Amino acid sequence: MKSLSLLFICLIIYFKFFIFAIFASQEVSDNDGFEVSDEILAIVGDIDYGEYLSSECTTCHHAQGLDEGIPSITGWPVESFVWALHSYKSGARKHPIMEMITQRLSNEEIASLAIFFESINN
Ligand code: HEC
Repeated sequence: MKSLSLLFICLIIYFKFFIFAIFASQEVSDNDGFEVSDEILAIVGDIDYGEYLSSECTTCHHAQGLDEGIPSITGWPVESFVWALHSYKSGARKHPIMEMITQRLSNEEIASLAIFFESINN
C-alpha cells in the first residue's frame, strides 16, 4: 500500500514537470496582479556578493550584455531586476529554468545580484 502511494506521488511530480515543459515557452503577460512587497524592494544588496553569485547567471546570460536568444540582464534598474526575479520565484512568470534558479535564491541574494548587474554598463 505504501509503495503504491509513493508511485502515485511520483506520477504527480512527473506530470507537473510535463505540464511545465508544455508551457515553457509561454510567457505570462506583464505580471498580472503580481506584487513585490516594499520590504523586499527595500533590501540593499551587497555588490561583491552579487558578483560572486553572478557566475552562475553568466553561463547563459552574456556578461557583456549581448542579447542573442537569451535576454540581456545588464544595466537594469535594481527594482525591475528584483521584480523580474521574484516574478519567476513566485511562479507568476513561467519559465522552468528561471523558476528553478530563483527558487534557490534568498531575497538578499536577489538584491545583491540586482545591484551587481545594474552596475554593468555596456
Ligand atoms: C540555463 C540558462 C540560464 C541561467 C543559468 C540563468 N538564466 Fe536567466 N533566463 C534564461 C532564459 C532562457 C530567460 C528567458 C525566460 C523567459 O522567456 O521568461 C531568462 C530570463 C531572465 C530574466 C528576465 C529577462 C527579461 O528580459 O525579462 C532575468 C532578470 C534573469 N533571467 C536573471 C538571471 C539571473 C540573475 C541568473 C543567475 C542567478 C540567471 N538568470 C540564470 C536563462 C538562464
